[in-house]
Amino acid sequence: MADTLTGKVEVEPTIEEASFGFGRFWQRFREMSFRDKRLTLMGVLRFYLRSRLFDSGGPAVLSRNVVIGKRRPARLVLGRGARIAKGCVLVVGTGREPESVLEIGPRTVIGPGTRIMAASQVHIGARCMISWNCSIFDSIGHKLWLKSTGESEIEAPITIGDDVWIGPNSIIMKGVTIGSGSVVGAGSVVRRDVPPKSLVVGNPARVIDRVLRWER
Ligand SMILES: CC(C)(COP(=O)(O)OP(=O)(O)OC[C@H]1O[C@@H](n2cnc3c(N)ncnc32)[C@H](O)[C@@H]1OP(=O)(O)O)[C@@H](O)C(=O)NCCC(=O)NCCS
Repeated sequence: MADTLTGKVEVEPTIEEASFGFGRFWQRFREMSFRDKRLTLMGVLRFYLRSRLFDSGGPAVLSRNVVIGKRRPARLVLGRGARIAKGCVLVVGTGREPESVLEIGPRTVIGPGTRIMAASQVHIGARCMISWNCSIFDSIGHKLWLKSTGESEIEAPITIGDDVWIGPNSIIMKGVTIGSGSVVGAGSVVRRDVPPKSLVVGNPARVIDRVLRWER
């Protein structure tokens, strides 16, 4: 009798009845093939390393081949439920003071192949939909002198409000603020501020209408 009880305690019930998930995970892990074990460990390691790149925020979805570059001092904040699709490139920081910030708001979706570069500050609000192959960069990257205006400003923060929809292949340039609820037409180049709830299109993007509402 004692032997039977010992057998039961030692094998199945201790793990099956454990209320925390690690026991179940460990049991499944032990039963995996070598290949699956290796893939699982690589996944856990990738998840751990990636999570260390973020400074705060809730659980978010990052597709596999998203490239994240960070040069401190830099802060990268990904809101709860944000989704970054495959092939996106997020770069934050220049390696010098002041601290650079890239903030992507809760439930915002960034489409495949979009590139965001924050040398100063890029703030993207909640529930935005940024389509594929867009470029958002707050720096021209190099010093430039023009005859008409003299030395160009290298960096200026970008602020995108809540519920903004940016069409594919659009470019959002340094210093721009896009008001909440606005829509940017496909292939637009946004160089000037966009008032809230506006439809802007073209290069350079111009307001052509008011947005009453849009749905995801
Ligand atoms: C923003 C958008 C949705 C507006 O569509 P819409 O309400 O049907 O607007 P219309 O097509 O009637 O265009 C209104 C005017 O803006 C112009 N226009 C629309 N989109 C434009 C664009 N991307 N670039 C330049 N002009 C544009 C039209 O020529 C039209 O001008 P006109 O009246 O002088 O001819 C549309 O411009 C767009 O970008 N569509 C792409 C959406 C997309 O790719 N979605 C999938 C991924 S998220």
